[in-house]
Amino acid sequence: MDKFVIEGGHPLKGVIPVSGAKNAALPVLAATLLTADEVTLDRIPKVRDIRTMAKLLESVGAEVKPNNGGYAVRVTEVTSAEAPYELVKTMRASSLVLGPLVARCGEARVSMPGGCAIGARPINLHLTGLEKLGAKISQEHGYVRAHAPNGLTGAVIHFDRVTVTGTEDLLMAAVLAKGETVIENAAREPEVSDLADLLTKMGARIEGAGTSTIQVEGVAELHGATHAIIPDRIEAGTFLIAGALMGDPLTVDGVNTEHIAALIDKMRQAGVEFSFPSEDRIEVRASGKLRAVDLATKEYPGFATDMQAQFLAMMTQAEGESEIIETIFENRFMHVSELLRMGADIAIEGNRATVRGKTELSGARVMASDLRASASLVIAALAARGETVIDRVYHIDRGYERIEEKLSGVGAQIHRAE
Ligand code: EPZ
Repeated sequence: MDKFVIEGGHPLKGVIPVSGAKNAALPVLAATLLTADEVTLDRIPKVRDIRTMAKLLESVGAEVKPNNGGYAVRVTEVTSAEAPYELVKTMRASSLVLGPLVARCGEARVSMPGGCAIGARPINLHLTGLEKLGAKISQEHGYVRAHAPNGLTGAVIHFDRVTVTGTEDLLMAAVLAKGETVIENAAREPEVSDLADLLTKMGARIEGAGTSTIQVEGVAELHGATHAIIPDRIEAGTFLIAGALMGDPLTVDGVNTEHIAALIDKMRQAGVEFSFPSEDRIEVRASGKLRAVDLATKEYPGFATDMQAQFLAMMTQAEGESEIIETIFENRFMHVSELLRMGADIAIEGNRATVRGKTELSGARVMASDLRASASLVIAALAARGETVIDRVYHIDRGYERIEEKLSGVGAQIHRAE
């Protein structure tokens, strides 16, 4: 298993590029199942989850060809409606093929994704939504089957709680359903809007993407399209936090600042100063006098749960006591035990972490547990005194493209070791 070796204390100076958003690329790739025409996708990040999704598409009959900065995908015919366990167990976002497969061929069998490090992560809301559209749902041998031999029919779907991939799954099912669908309490994440942009280019009729109520007028079929996905707001935020600790200055390039407004606001409250040299660049410098601030994660446009671990790492370097509440997932403090080993002062009580800073961090041997917890360890290691070795970096490779190369490019002393 690969590991990262990081020597802390080196300033980060220069321009660091942001790749396309993993969490936009995954639903957009699933959407290619909705047409027999070719769909050309650009700015697809070269990360493990995307390769897994490409394999999943091929296993149901897609032809996936590398094309410039992304893929050209053509699903002339769906040859299998089954997302196999060995692929789904490595990436729970495989549930994103449920909606498109049922919409395209009236049938989908997806291995139940199972939980992951950050929580149980059920897909019950996806399934009840598909039932509302007329699919018959059954579960057996660890698989969920959705069956709609006569196609899907539009309906009003109300999500009890906001679900990002649930909204995306149902949106992809609704675009080929007969009649109108209304999705209430829909997720408003930029990745949902990006998916809706592609679907609209493919001929879908969607109103309200990006708001809590999305209306879809079903159409008989969709055609091919070309689409470049949005930049990765979580990768951009991760680099901004690293820059707040070590920037001299660090310029993050290719950002959509609107997508990270809540993060920028919260970082400003903590004393971080930004400058905006151009429309898609943000410059940040280590301030050395960070203030502890409280935080509660929220659905978009609130502070993203995917940025909580990284922000918590920064709070170890802020003066005072910061209370961080994780409202989206039930177990998303896996980074804390590793940060404690590096000298942080953090107490956890349920979904609340209290961080007392400023504490000097010292390099240690630590273990990555999930994607964003791992990113938090990289940030801590960059600021720590001495050497940190992070094991199991395949977690990081799921969602960050060449992170060690990008960070080395701006002065970090980080390399990948076997
Ligand atoms: C998406 O996951 C992201 N993944 C996650 O990013 C992100 O953390 C999450 O949204 C929240 O923003 C992708 O987009 C591929 P949810 P998703 O459904 O859609 C509960 C990363 O780091 N829930 O919005 O799976 C669920 O358990 C990943 O890139 C149900 O109870 O998240 C959670 O507590 C991690 N039943 C809450 O809702 C359901 O049917 C929000 O989950 C669905 C969800």
